[in-house]
Amino acid sequence: MGRYSVPLAPLLADLAEVAAGHRVLDVGCGPGALTSELVRRLGPASVTAVDPSESFVAAVHERHPGVDVSRCSAEQLPFEVETFDAAFAQLVVHFMADPVAGLREMARVTRTDGVVAACVWDHAGGGGPLKLFWDAAGELDREVVDESQLAGTREGDLTQLFQAAGLREVEESVLSVSVEHPSFEDWWDPFTLGVGPAGSYTVGLEPALRAELRERCREGLPPAPFVVTARAWAARGLA
Ligand SMILES: C[S@@+](CC[C@H](N)C(=O)[O-])C[C@H]1O[C@@H](n2cnc3c(N)ncnc32)[C@H](O)[C@@H]1O
Repeated sequence: MGRYSVPLAPLLADLAEVAAGHRVLDVGCGPGALTSELVRRLGPASVTAVDPSESFVAAVHERHPGVDVSRCSAEQLPFEVETFDAAFAQLVVHFMADPVAGLREMARVTRTDGVVAACVWDHAGGGGPLKLFWDAAGELDREVVDESQLAGTREGDLTQLFQAAGLREVEESVLSVSVEHPSFEDWWDPFTLGVGPAGSYTVGLEPALRAELRERCREGLPPAPFVVTARAWAARGLA
């Protein structure tokens, strides 16, 4: 999903109106798509990043040695009250064990009137980048559990979660990105790495079923090169 989160990052950063001198927190930084955008805008010393995955923490540390990056979850942030001017969670809220607790923690560590901003793919509305994948998987297996039931994936979800976390003046919007794939393999191969729910599902299939899923996906896509446009729900609120 990194290819989609790279163009998403500047849109989320714009939403929070980050400006020179701001100190910001990237929660659930993963391999660093948003971290890189924040470093580009503010410099590494102004950016702090966290993720529960040791390998992602190591990846961001290697990529941006000047960024303070550590291992923890949104639900338990090891920072003092009002440490940051803004806190972000790009494509993370739907993976939090307790999204309201995670957002409440983000609000706690953000200064009064600072911005908390988050976005989640529109999996429930069919606008996410994995729609074709999960539709094809559902044709092969009616019991398949896609990502459409996760928190934040439908219109209004993020607003409710932000308000429940005590954020003020919450505004919801839509962020849209387009990514060109030069070949079908460029689109398919990342699923075989086992990352995220779609990747785990792919690598868990018997080889014959995996080949069938691959073929259905190929049939559902236009001839390469092709462009996939994906939509995410985004929300911002004041701490
Ligand atoms: C889809 S990735 C997004 C990574 C990155 N923000 C981006 O946009 O590319 C989801 C990330 O959320 C992290 N994550 C999962 N549960 C979390 C939690 N409770 N708190 C913080 N991060 C979490 C995962 O380790 C993973 O790095």
